[in-house]
Amino acid sequence: MREKPVITIDGPAGAGKSTISRLLAERLSYLYLDTGALYRAVAYHLIQKDYSGNNEELADLCRNIRVELNDRAGRLHVFVNSEDVTMKIRTEEIGLLASRISAIPMVREVLLSVQRDMAAAGGVVAEGRDMGTVVFPDAEIKFFLDATVRERAGRRYRELSERGEKASLRDVESDILIRDRQDRERSVAPLVAAADAVHIDSTDQTISQVVDIMMGVINKTGNAQMRTEKCP
Ligand code: DC
Repeated sequence: MREKPVITIDGPAGAGKSTISRLLAERLSYLYLDTGALYRAVAYHLIQKDYSGNNEELADLCRNIRVELNDRAGRLHVFVNSEDVTMKIRTEEIGLLASRISAIPMVREVLLSVQRDMAAAGGVVAEGRDMGTVVFPDAEIKFFLDATVRERAGRRYRELSERGEKASLRDVESDILIRDRQDRERSVAPLVAAADAVHIDSTDQTISQVVDIMMGVINKTGNAQMRTEKCP
């Protein structure tokens, strides 16, 4: 029995999961578990090792990879075999490769225990694609965050522009569509809402509106649990 709940937030690329999960974790003083960063870290490692697509080579790489998320001065840093890759994994190229390799069961298996270990004591906001369905099916509170493709592409485009990266809105939208298809149609742990998830469409909502909606759900769940506990 966990002391504090696990809160899961699943949804497609660009739905606002990262920002919202981080803010929610801050408000609750919970750990923010960015599982996309783990898949990105593996993708980064495969590029570094000139991975050719060969299965045996992948098995060997997976056996020898150690992926960790560690808190550094209040910010989550991602490490691959002790190398800090936090900034290096935030490219569109790595995002697309992460989406591709995340369909490989061996890769998902390597990362499963990393994720579960980090959330063992609860008090975690876990963000990804299969949090509420596969990794934490017993999570106390589950959300599925979505937005239209146009809105998600617009957000990603603005994010890249702010970072000074060149990209056309059309290319960003097409990358989002490819990722949606890869993430939703894979046979292992596809992106799908858990049956007991609360759906939120963030298309016309600000970040703080979505956080407020989630806090409302979390508080209501807490009250409901307290009421049940008081019943004889
Ligand atoms: O959330 P993100 O864009 O950083 O994730 C990168 C890719 O990693 C995403 O397209 C699919 C994969 N992923 C996954 O398969 N399962 C997760 N729980 C998180 C991410």
